[in-house]
Amino acid sequence: MAGIVLVGAQWGDEGKGKITDLIADDFDYVVRFQGGNNAGHTVIHGGHTLKLHLIPSGIMYPHITPVIGNGCVIDPKVLLEEMDRLEADGLPTHRLLISCNAHLIMPYHLDLDGASEHRLGSLEIGTTRRGIGPAYMDKASRMGLRIQDLTDEHIFRKKVEAALHEKNAILSKVYGLATYTEDQITEEYLSYAERIKPHISDTSLVINKALDADQWVLFEGAQGTLLDVDHGTYPFVTSSSPVAGGACTGAGVGPRRIDRVLGIAKAYITRVGSGPFPTELSGEVGEHLIRVGQEYGTTTGRERRAGWYDSVIVRYAVQVSGLTDLIITKLDVLSELDTIKVCVAYEYEGHRYNNLPCHQTVFHHARPIYEELPGWQADITGCRDFGDLPKEARDYIGFIEDLAEVPVAMIAVGPAREQTVVRRWESRP
Ligand code: GDP
Ligand code: IMO
Ligand code: MG
Repeated sequence: MAGIVLVGAQWGDEGKGKITDLIADDFDYVVRFQGGNNAGHTVIHGGHTLKLHLIPSGIMYPHITPVIGNGCVIDPKVLLEEMDRLEADGLPTHRLLISCNAHLIMPYHLDLDGASEHRLGSLEIGTTRRGIGPAYMDKASRMGLRIQDLTDEHIFRKKVEAALHEKNAILSKVYGLATYTEDQITEEYLSYAERIKPHISDTSLVINKALDADQWVLFEGAQGTLLDVDHGTYPFVTSSSPVAGGACTGAGVGPRRIDRVLGIAKAYITRVGSGPFPTELSGEVGEHLIRVGQEYGTTTGRERRAGWYDSVIVRYAVQVSGLTDLIITKLDVLSELDTIKVCVAYEYEGHRYNNLPCHQTVFHHARPIYEELPGWQADITGCRDFGDLPKEARDYIGFIEDLAEVPVAMIAVGPAREQTVVRRWESRP
């Protein structure tokens, strides 16, 4: 076993950072393959909290090579700030590799993200306003600038000039915003270039060689299945492919390189930003989940929306990512509840939907069908073995497992690395 993909099975913030950090010790490389600094991955170690936006969560281990793959979009200013913060915390960043083909988030992408959200008004997507959508738009329309362009001032300037021709017209004529000069942007971005250049690499080649040599590579997803631009709750999605297949295009490896796919899901579910959410809770229980689960965005600080665990969504994640294992996080957050509901299917206009309805109108109006399970009302944060968990908690996991039809390999019972019940993980020999 060498190539393992870890993805979010819900709408993001499932605890991918914590689980990546937990298993990273077994790996030689940890690779981000999509998204940008819209992600916020929290890693807690030794009482110290690290919030990572771009750099893979394996950075804590000195033997790991962290990689930002070609499928990512990079705001160089944010990247350097994150590297500085890590260095200040005593975590060296010199091993970081950045794909020469990753795209750059440009200053006008940030403006356009904000302006387009403002224009949408009540229909806004609720983006992180980090320029992610506009950067991927330019990538697809072949107007983007890439990390490798930072190494050639002449080419960089020419590409900025070509882009500004259109961007300035949109900024000023469509949105009434200030424009940019190519000098302004070139000067700023080339000032970042000197520090970024030593990290630029043909990361696809590096990763493939590592896999050839039987080294272990973990592909760390950002966002989650329902935020996928193809498979998510479009248009309330991000602009990349957080499903497992995204690891192939976003890191430059073939599908046969992937041996195992871990899907991370909370024991309930949250979402940040707009869009449909069948099991959303607005009353006391929802507030309880937000308070106990500390459901505030790592990137934007926004309060997350919270609801009961939705097995239709997780089954869908099993389907579109080919999950081999499920990892349930934040089980401790449910500990005080008398009873716990799980959505097993949806109902709409007299029809029962066991699978995610592909028509958005049905999903928007879907009414969850719940099964109610007894709670355990005991502190489980000290549990380390499955047998340590109260019977009701074990039954809850068993119920989720049966619905997902994949084994639950780990259960997180607290934010710290060691607060985890590991059932199915063979560490590297
Ligand atoms: P990510 O984006 O998927 O990496 O998740 P985030 O870091 O944005 O959000 C998950 C939050 O839950 C972080 O604050 C974690 O420290 C925290 N967390 C992760 N696992 C657990 C758990 O099992 N219990 C509790 N109480 N918190 C957890
Ligand atoms: P991690 O990796 C949760 C959401 C935004 C918005 C939509 C589009 O921490 O799980 P974007 O800025 O990407 O164009 O916003 O996607 N979103 C996330 N929600 N966790 C994330 O990342 C997210 N990244 C983007 O809130 O609804
Ligand atoms: Mg997050």
